[in-house]
Amino acid sequence: TRTQVAIIGAGPAGLLLGQLLHNVGIDSIILEARDRVYVENRIRAGVIEHGSAQTLIEAGVGARMQREGLIHHGIELLFQGQRHRIDFQALTGKYVTVYGQHEIVKDMIAARLATSRPLHFEVENVLLLDIESDAPRVIYRKDGVEHEITCDFIAGCDGFHGISRDAFPKGAITGYEKTYPFAWLGILAEAPPAGEELVYAQHERGFALFSMRSPTITRLYLQVEPDEDPANWPDDRIWEELHRRLETRDGWRLNEGKIIQKGVTAMRSFVAEPMRHGRLLLAGDAAHIVPPTGAKGMNLAIADVRRLSQALQAFYGRASQQGIDEYSPQCLKRIWKAQQFSGWMTSLLHCFQEDSMFERKRQSALLDYVVNSRAAATGLAENYVGLPYEETL
Ligand code: FAD
Ligand code: DHB
Repeated sequence: TRTQVAIIGAGPAGLLLGQLLHNVGIDSIILEARDRVYVENRIRAGVIEHGSAQTLIEAGVGARMQREGLIHHGIELLFQGQRHRIDFQALTGKYVTVYGQHEIVKDMIAARLATSRPLHFEVENVLLLDIESDAPRVIYRKDGVEHEITCDFIAGCDGFHGISRDAFPKGAITGYEKTYPFAWLGILAEAPPAGEELVYAQHERGFALFSMRSPTITRLYLQVEPDEDPANWPDDRIWEELHRRLETRDGWRLNEGKIIQKGVTAMRSFVAEPMRHGRLLLAGDAAHIVPPTGAKGMNLAIADVRRLSQALQAFYGRASQQGIDEYSPQCLKRIWKAQQFSGWMTSLLHCFQEDSMFERKRQSALLDYVVNSRAAATGLAENYVGLPYEETL
């Protein structure tokens, strides 16, 4: 089979790329390792930047998000029993949308199927070949049968554990990595959210986050040991720890409910440079991971793919190679700023066991500064709602 762009992975990056290319008449084939039910039920991100939401709407896949997503004009930082609001509306004029990543994925899969362009689930043994030539190939197996795709470009959108990054020749790519001495235990509970905005809590027992998915579902996270086994966290222990870390002096209290999902997420920062070799271009988690504290992972994937689709449009429409050549350096500007912000939010809010009293007092001073200085709060707000796409050009 022949196509213009072979897309590896049907996460937010791969599916949105397929949609953006379809909208300008560029053909693609999407290959996904897992089955549709798995992909549509993988609970992950929940915060959509202002510009990401705009991108989804313009791409024609934002209608349900606009109906069901929750618009948030701020967040709260909780420390020493007190909540402090960061007012995005007043500081930036922008907002974020709280809407589950898996809902976006469902919406984009439905949109893809409606285009009749190919999206193959449960593919195996994906192999990327001839990426330095003008006619790269992808070989894969599906239902025990081997298939070959010839294309102009391969988009590696297969996440952190995918195969695309490994298809770069040795020495053609460098990974920059940092790991953190903790992980996040995340739960979904059938409980009405006890407040309208997200609460990021710094506490001596560790970080906690109050979030939500809908008027009936609460999403919560706890800082835990890096290799924590969720089995060590029976429901009672989770609620007790959440109540302690999210306790406020004004008596605000979480609503409890049935825990319907529980999982541990490792925390790491990772960037692979460059993001292109020949005709293979990486996008999203395949090229970079941020710690989740800043809610940037999926938003970065969307920003990459937005740029990639523009580059491919210029290539096919105007025979211009410029966007392809500039793809990696341009994306990396935004990616490193997101790394900086996510790392900063992480150190602002987490408990680092090895920290000296000096570091703890410094962290308290920083929190106090962020909520009392309009300049500092604006810095947080403008990163959280998403830096403008153009300024990072
Ligand atoms: P993925 O979603 O990982 O998709 C890659 C796809 O490729 C997968 O479907 C995978 O099955 C498939 N694949 C893998 N290998 C192959 C192969 N060999 N062949 C074919 N297909 C393959 N981000 C935010 O922006 N905001 C948040 O609030 C946020 N919170 C998060 C909370 C948690 C608990 C977690 C885990 C992540 C969070 N993130 C958040 C990060 C966000 O989920 C990711 O950045 C996002 O999923 C990246 O999308 P992607 O399409 O690049 O990769
Ligand atoms: C959610 C996840 C995040 O990483 C974050 O910073 C805020 C919210 C969430 O899943 O709702």
